[in-house]
Amino acid sequence: MRPDDPELLRLLRRIYRGVWGYDVGPADAARVERSGGAETYGEIRPAAAARLLAHLRLGPSDVLYDLGSGTGRFALHAALGTRVGRVVGVELARARHEAAVAARAAARAAGRRRADRLELRCADLLRVSLADATVVYCCDTAFPEPFLARLARKVARARPGLRFVSTAPLDPSPRLALEEVLRLDMSWRRRSKTYLYRVAAGGRSR
Ligand SMILES: C[S@@+](CC[C@H](N)C(=O)[O-])C[C@H]1O[C@@H](n2cnc3c(N)ncnc32)[C@H](O)[C@@H]1O
Repeated sequence: MRPDDPELLRLLRRIYRGVWGYDVGPADAARVERSGGAETYGEIRPAAAARLLAHLRLGPSDVLYDLGSGTGRFALHAALGTRVGRVVGVELARARHEAAVAARAAARAAGRRRADRLELRCADLLRVSLADATVVYCCDTAFPEPFLARLARKVARARPGLRFVSTAPLDPSPRLALEEVLRLDMSWRRRSKTYLYRVAAGGRSR
């Protein structure tokens, strides 16, 4: 099982043909704006997702959260292409969430039983518990500063050792140690800096 397996990449391409997360209707846009987040869309490119997933070396005891999972492509890729125990995709825009649910069903229909490891929640990412998370990914580049600061505080309070992959740099915090910076291709920029943090000892789960 490899995240860069050509057959898996072909399947994801087929499932996501015609799926377009960039526009949301006014109700979804208002819902997301009310949360303090941003409805601006963008995705990690499939080859970069494969690289990041290989880098993270997820195993059966890992629980990966994609906060703001959009149409679910990265989360589904993680569930199908790694040995991760569980993936949780959290997305507030209903249309994007529903596209992710349909993509998971298509993967299941194609015989990929690991699709069942993907849980999809239509919820505000600041209101979900991260108590069981071991890795959090968030494509947070477009989030307004106050929302990003609240997200960083939330992650910093999660369990020590949790890894946080953020596409935006965070303000320095004694609870979040920057371990690495990767350069990954995103839909809005090639070789975009992606920051890998780790929650330091002394944090608390919630
Ligand atoms: C840049 S997209 C990320 C898509 C996907 N994770 C990826 O990297 O390919 C960010 C997503 O966060 C969602 N979002 C913004 N505020 C949110 C909130 N408060 N709760 C949940 N999702 C939110 C947006 O609707 C959008 O789909």
